Amino acid sequence: MAESLITAPSGAGKAERYALLLPQLRSLVEGESDLIANIANVMAALRESMAFFWVGVYFVKGEELVLGPFQGPLACTRIAYGKGVCGLAWKEGRSVLVPDVEAFPGHIACSALSKSELVVPVIVGERVVMVLDVDSDQLNDFDERDASALQQVAVLLGELMEKPKAC
Ligand code: SME
Repeated sequence: MAESLITAPSGAGKAERYALLLPQLRSLVEGESDLIANIANVMAALRESMAFFWVGVYFVKGEELVLGPFQGPLACTRIAYGKGVCGLAWKEGRSVLVPDVEAFPGHIACSALSKSELVVPVIVGERVVMVLDVDSDQLNDFDERDASALQQVAVLLGELMEKPKAC
């Protein structure tokens, strides 16, 4: 595991932050095979580099999504299939970008401060196994750069799901 995270200077733009962060994520999880430990550190690195209001994952477990490692305020623990932004990303197997959560029918408000959201599914084989969720306390805070970068993170998370667990 890399011992520290190099972050962009304050004032750096989104593109610069992702460019610095993404290559570091692989070395962060190298040498550790425990799934939860690795996902927890990836979430912390995302939070530290990108200053997301909330970032975390939900695992597909039966007919529900169940909360996994996250950084930010307390969150809903279970989301039914197809419900909310996360459930839609799971059901349709695609990223869902919501510029204004109040304009999204069925949005699940874990925090009243959340204003915009992006959810990216993690797909292994042809099955969604997890979703990666980021929330902002600003309206219209996510764009295609976020979607593209977080899809790369989702590929890494999918690979971690396939790795054998150490414990
Ligand atoms: N807003 C999400 C629920 C999860 S939280 O944002 C952490 C949704 O509508 O699915």
